[in-house]
Amino acid sequence: MRPLGRRLATLAVLSASLVFANYTDPNVLDACPGYKTTNVHTSGSTLTADLVLAGEACNVYGSDIEQLKLEVTYETNTRIHVKITDPSSDRYEVPESVVPRPDADPSVSSSTAEIRFNYTASPFAFSIYRAATHEVLFSTASHPIIFEPQYLRVKTNLPDNANIYGLGEHTDSFRLPTFNTTRTFWSRDAYGVPTGSNLYGNHPIYFEHRTTGTHGVFLLNSNGMDVKINDTAGTSLEYNVIGGVLDFYFLAGSTTDPVEAARQYAEIVGAPAEVPYWSFGLHQCRFGYQNYLDVANVIANYSKADIPLETMWTDIDYMYKRRIFTVDPDYFPLARMREIVDYLHSNDQHYVLMTDPAIAYLPGGGYGPFDRGTQADIWLMAANDSSPFLGAVWPGVTVFPDWFSNKTQDYWTNEFQLFYDPQSGLDIDGAWIDMNEPSSFCNYPCTDPFEQAQEQDLPPARTSSPPDPNAPMPWGSQKRKRVDHSGDDLQNPLYAIQNDAGSGALSDRTAYVDAKHANGLVEYDTHNLYGTMMSTATHNAMLARRPGLRTLVITRSTFAGAGAHVGKWLGDNFSDWDHYRNSIAGILGMASIFHVPMVGADICGYAENTTETLCARWAMLGAFYPFMRNHNADTSISQEFYLWPTVAQAARNVLDIRYRLMDYIYTAFHQAHEDGTPVLNPLWYKYPEDPATFPIDLQFFFGDSILVSPVTEENSTSVTAYFPKDTFYDFLTLAPFEGTGANMTLSGINFTSIPVHIKGGAVLPLREKGTMTTTQLRETDFELVVAPDASGEASGSLYADDGVSITPATSTSVSFSYQNGTLAVAGEFGYSMGVNVSRVRFLGVVSAPTTVKANGQTVQSGAISYDKDSQVLDVTLDTPFNEGFTVQHS
Ligand SMILES: *[C@@H]1O[C@H](CO)[C@@H](O)[C@H](O)[C@H]1NC(C)=O
Ligand SMILES: *[C@@H]1O[C@H](CO)[C@@H](O)[C@H](O)[C@H]1NC(C)=O
Ligand SMILES: *[C@@H]1O[C@H](CO)[C@@H](O)[C@H](O)[C@H]1NC(C)=O
Ligand SMILES: *[C@@H]1O[C@H](CO)[C@@H](O)[C@H](O)[C@H]1NC(C)=O
Ligand SMILES: *[C@@H]1O[C@H](CO)[C@@H](O)[C@H](O)[C@H]1NC(C)=O
Ligand SMILES: *[C@@H]1O[C@H](CO)[C@@H](O)[C@H](O)[C@H]1NC(C)=O
Ligand SMILES: *[C@@H]1O[C@H](CO)[C@@H](O)[C@H](O)[C@H]1NC(C)=O
Ligand SMILES: *[C@@H]1O[C@H](CO)[C@@H](O)[C@H](O)[C@H]1NC(C)=O
Ligand SMILES: *[C@@H]1O[C@H](CO)[C@@H](O)[C@H](O)[C@H]1NC(C)=O
Repeated sequence: MRPLGRRLATLAVLSASLVFANYTDPNVLDACPGYKTTNVHTSGSTLTADLVLAGEACNVYGSDIEQLKLEVTYETNTRIHVKITDPSSDRYEVPESVVPRPDADPSVSSSTAEIRFNYTASPFAFSIYRAATHEVLFSTASHPIIFEPQYLRVKTNLPDNANIYGLGEHTDSFRLPTFNTTRTFWSRDAYGVPTGSNLYGNHPIYFEHRTTGTHGVFLLNSNGMDVKINDTAGTSLEYNVIGGVLDFYFLAGSTTDPVEAARQYAEIVGAPAEVPYWSFGLHQCRFGYQNYLDVANVIANYSKADIPLETMWTDIDYMYKRRIFTVDPDYFPLARMREIVDYLHSNDQHYVLMTDPAIAYLPGGGYGPFDRGTQADIWLMAANDSSPFLGAVWPGVTVFPDWFSNKTQDYWTNEFQLFYDPQSGLDIDGAWIDMNEPSSFCNYPCTDPFEQAQEQDLPPARTSSPPDPNAPMPWGSQKRKRVDHSGDDLQNPLYAIQNDAGSGALSDRTAYVDAKHANGLVEYDTHNLYGTMMSTATHNAMLARRPGLRTLVITRSTFAGAGAHVGKWLGDNFSDWDHYRNSIAGILGMASIFHVPMVGADICGYAENTTETLCARWAMLGAFYPFMRNHNADTSISQEFYLWPTVAQAARNVLDIRYRLMDYIYTAFHQAHEDGTPVLNPLWYKYPEDPATFPIDLQFFFGDSILVSPVTEENSTSVTAYFPKDTFYDFLTLAPFEGTGANMTLSGINFTSIPVHIKGGAVLPLREKGTMTTTQLRETDFELVVAPDASGEASGSLYADDGVSITPATSTSVSFSYQNGTLAVAGEFGYSMGVNVSRVRFLGVVSAPTTVKANGQTVQSGAISYDKDSQVLDVTLDTPFNEGFTVQHS
């Protein structure tokens, strides 16, 4: 990244001498002249060329740039970087400080790569094809590239009925529709997470799957854009981008294993961060806990209902006048809040509070976070560059930290140290960051944020009286670069992306696109990075509080690469069945493609009122979200799991399953962190040759081998789900279940159960039983479940460490393999788990065994039981889990 100058020149109005038209007919764009190739140089792994406008400019949304520079680099054997820039200007590029670029392997050349770049010289068009088969994966043939100051267009042909996944964040189907589809990239506060709309985060990556292989295409660009997929005149995918440069990474993926595409994408944006073990426990939250007693009572009620609550959360209710880094002295007095945190910690439970980016604009002085930020000069500035940009958010008129200022991290870290000080403040265990699109309630044009704040009654008045400040706790007294935008119209580029915010203006209900950053960048280019930059700064601030320990930071807005630092929730959904269903595509997108695996939707739904049966079903589905949190809006009826008997029972049942699987999913997160192997899998990742799996987004694999098939219709006690031709086992009865490669109807599924199956071929390290906290869980013995595939084989692994350290002093890695009736357990047991393997259960054993041996010694018959109906052979061991062993049955 070249150094950036300080501030932008005043923006000039678009030159009136140019005549532009608005083109919507794709044929018009295809009639543009495109470019012809000159000065082609190839050396080793790179190809460079000049692209010169090939005819009369078509100036669709601005004037065509006359000459471009093409740079193609074979970065690895599976990755080609194709970059097209305007050498005559300093156009914006996503800063390396936000998305560091991956290293290239210098030994790679075009002759070793699995995918190749090919081009036609005039008009310039390029394609990417598989070297082995010459199959074309991406081709701009007959769709000229258009490159203008505020409009870039690249269009590729696709096969008919293309299977395209990604291009999120969205609530569309996991496999994107190919007819008349526009995916818009522009972060917005998208209440209700509507389908077909731009949402909070932006991940301009797609995977395309064919029966011949899976590949990936990543456009590293943070400007607003529409990606259009259509199949009316042949199928195609078209990028329409309103700034920046064309910076493509093509990933070969694999012809056999779709997961390779995910691993290769992790090489660019980073593999996901590991999270603390405890963060896989149940989280409870709501907007609208009125005071500290409400919070305390919820904690006590979970315990009374025997539902394991690991982490309690509090939304903005705790703040004084909705100002971050404050507590309301009447409703949430600091001393009483500290008592709650102490109580939680002494019970091995945890606490998380919300922090928003917007800071109350209180120039009168006295509000430290504003005063210190002003002193440090770290606010996002208005277009005039002399005063902070003002919005209207929860506390009224606000300023916004500029994450590009090199003093903002210190500021943010210091605010976290002060307010979340374990000695004198609130010792939170994780951070929750919201409203970071950034959201403002002010419609564009936001001429008077003061009036707007007043009209909206910001901050909102309290709706209840303060509680007794000395009320007893429910648990009694127990102690526990300079960028050139001259000539551009930032507010109203001629190509208008389909932003769904209010009027559709880019600046609607967010920071203005002409707001300025410290390093000379403008919000027009960096808008989509705001949430991800706040994420990194918050991760760093939390790390400074507890050096060396993994952080749990849950954000709303993300950009490509966010998962390397933080997790996310899917935003403000509704308590309805559509949102219950589309949450699966949402978590699959984040976990299996975008590499933000610590993800979940608000269980039982955020806005509007849930129902007993929806909440019961959602508690059970939500137990298979990596991040499991019940969260609710301020005006909705309460929905803590203990409030209805059915929901409480559903939660107890499924939390038992989730907790037993916790080391399995913890191991999956470790693997993801090591090499980008996803922690959730759509069915087609596991059955890439079975076209029936390609559209499925109401079932998914939790980890590699746990198939979750929730009931998806209201009032229904059955589900029609697809079972590939493979061997499965019911998770509860452990009985075999043959998939036939067809839809099968599972019936009699009451409101306290959910169909869960083990994919044949797995050895699962399960805890013996669920517990009330993850700390207790870690003291519970393991059992191994051996679930063979059709050829009688199975394998698996376990990773264990202290559960909290970024670089643990010791760790344990165990591998399990099973064939010919013998289970072999081997590994390095550096971390002492201090528990036993209590038993091994072999599934699909068709007849009673004659002998069972452990480490070659015959096991006493009293330690063996065999159930003919379920075909389960159960061998009691009670062997310390600190070395390898074998168990053999015949
Ligand atoms: C192009 O779009 C702008 C903004 O929507 C509009 O004002 C103008 O009339 C349109 N021009 C044509 C030729 O359609
Ligand atoms: C490269 O593109 C040219 C022009 O489209 C085509 O004739 C040629 O077959 C392509 N080469 C490969 C290896 O696909
Ligand atoms: C395409 O989608 C747009 C936006 O949703 C809609 O207005 C339009 O009617 C659709 N066109 C067709 C041909 O379906
Ligand atoms: C898809 O094609 C149809 C028919 O040409 C057109 O009406 C529609 O606008 C196109 N949709 C998109 C998203 O490009
Ligand atoms: C921080 O930014 C300022 C202004 O952009 C610059 O003068 C200063 O050298 C930077 N400091 C560091 C430590 O990078
Ligand atoms: C939710 O229930 C409450 C209490 O019964 C009611 O006041 C509110 O209007 C309901 N909300 C919706 C969106 O139906
Ligand atoms: C489910 O049952 C409730 C209560 O009988 C009823 O109000 C609702 O309409 C039913 N929903 C569906 C989708 O049938
Ligand atoms: C399974 O059922 C779904 C939903 O009805 C349907 O779309 C799909 O085509 C069916 N799959 C097979 C293999 O029959
Ligand atoms: C619900 O179904 C499960 C699994 O079949 C069964 O164990 C449980 O007893 C049932 N619960 C009720 C209340 O019928």
